[in-house]
Amino acid sequence: MKVLGVCGSPRKNGNAAGMLKLALKECAAAGHETELVELAGKRINYCGGCSACPPCNVKDAMQAIYPKLEGADAVIIASPTYFAGPPGLLKSFMDRTLTLRRKNFALKGKIGAVIVVGASRNGGQENVCRDILNWMLIHDMTVVGDGSPTAHFGGICVGRNPGEAEKDEAGVKTVVGVGKRVAQELAARSGRRAGEGVVWPAAKGEGRKR
Ligand SMILES: Cc1cc2nc3c(=O)[nH]c(=O)nc-3n(C[C@H](O)[C@H](O)[C@H](O)COP(=O)(O)O)c2cc1C
Repeated sequence: MKVLGVCGSPRKNGNAAGMLKLALKECAAAGHETELVELAGKRINYCGGCSACPPCNVKDAMQAIYPKLEGADAVIIASPTYFAGPPGLLKSFMDRTLTLRRKNFALKGKIGAVIVVGASRNGGQENVCRDILNWMLIHDMTVVGDGSPTAHFGGICVGRNPGEAEKDEAGVKTVVGVGKRVAQELAARSGRRAGEGVVWPAAKGEGRKR
């Protein structure tokens, strides 16, 4: 199954991209196809609210991203924290997906997960997670977090300069957890009818039937 990673940082190869690559690596190790799209350097205009969609008639980088989103089974969004919110680039990306919601909920049921990096320990990463998870819920996606035993809102890391987030051991655990959790959910979907007989291989001894 296909996992699309979208990095919303305006800085190419920064912390968010590094963390997203770690999560995608987990998905690839579990046998899933992965693709990374960095929004950095791409021209993505803000949604002008013209209400003409679908389709979106703004001719920019989003036109190549729409089919990637539609073709994915899971979408992981990674973002830096900017003033306790997502950067404008990522907000524009999210707003511009209105056309997919209006296309009979084209993202409905896809797995969604988030990874957020900030320079400070309590710099607002949870707010950014919330914003992105809200975007996923409004698309009627199925959201997962970082899975047990950490099991919170997704991958949350601390790092300022590129490469620093990799040194945040506790944060990296949550990022790897996101990758594993997405991979598990996709595997569960491919081999069963929804909700049947899955034992989640979470922490040792924690597997549970559902
Ligand atoms: C405009 C701006 C605002 C920022 N605001 C915050 C913030 O509110 N909280 C925080 O923890 N870090 C903040 N940061 C730091 C970035 O989140 C941090 O450097 C992060 O690692 C950048 O990720 P990237 O390398 O993927 O771009 C801000 C950085 C910029 C450029």
